[in-house]
Amino acid sequence: MNNKPIGIFDSGIGGTSIWKEVVKLLPNENTIYLADSKNAPYGEKSSEDIIALSVKNTEYLISKGCKLIIVACNTATTNAIDYLRKNYTIPFIGIEPAIKPAALLSKTGAIGILATKGTLSSKLFEKTTKEYTKNITTIEQDGEGLVPLIEDGKLNSPEINQLLSTYLTPMLKFNIDHLVLGCTHYPYLIPQIKKIIGENITIIDSGEAVAKQTKAILEKHNLLSASTTKSHHQFYTNAETKVLKEILNDVTAEFTVEKLAF
Ligand code: DGL
Repeated sequence: MNNKPIGIFDSGIGGTSIWKEVVKLLPNENTIYLADSKNAPYGEKSSEDIIALSVKNTEYLISKGCKLIIVACNTATTNAIDYLRKNYTIPFIGIEPAIKPAALLSKTGAIGILATKGTLSSKLFEKTTKEYTKNITTIEQDGEGLVPLIEDGKLNSPEINQLLSTYLTPMLKFNIDHLVLGCTHYPYLIPQIKKIIGENITIIDSGEAVAKQTKAILEKHNLLSASTTKSHHQFYTNAETKVLKEILNDVTAEFTVEKLAF
């Protein structure tokens, strides 16, 4: 048993979509969330830069005593998780676009994937796609521009709707029946996405799977919290706290949000 916090980081506020699933499944765990919003979007950076930022985030969470780290960012996972696992001894949980379930469940034989350039161009993404989509048509779309708008709190803006329409409408011609959201910021756009693709295409994100995997790894390493008192959650951002607070306004657990220089 171990009452130390779980660490979570993302290039910004998107990883809170994962954090919400983790807290739902593991209500006794304390957490520390790091939003590197100053450096978002990671998706437009080189693999070397993404690794360097992921190392910086990891060092910070380790310095705060975290027992396990969730890389709540597809771009950081697909570019940096191998490096992190090789260089640190604590367990890491990553998140990758859920291509495997989408490909297995597809009846039309066509799936769409919306992710960042950094994820779509990574070796890990290439490997997963090759392995699971042999007889499947995959329509890959870079969601350039979406993350900065979400970070600005413009979730319901004409700019977001215009970009989504440009990115998703062409997929409809291919008769996709699943759309994989390969970026942890995108679940916050599901209502807007549904307006464009309708209700018959299944949207898949990996939040719940990450929460289950986190629980399994904590159990395996005997790291589950023994606490029976209320858990506490600390959020740190290196940008203004306003949008992060807005995105957490449906959270009932106790938490604090602080701006940090990192
Ligand atoms: N939430 C990150 C992801 O899942 C966003 C990447 C970015 O900052 O571009 O990929």
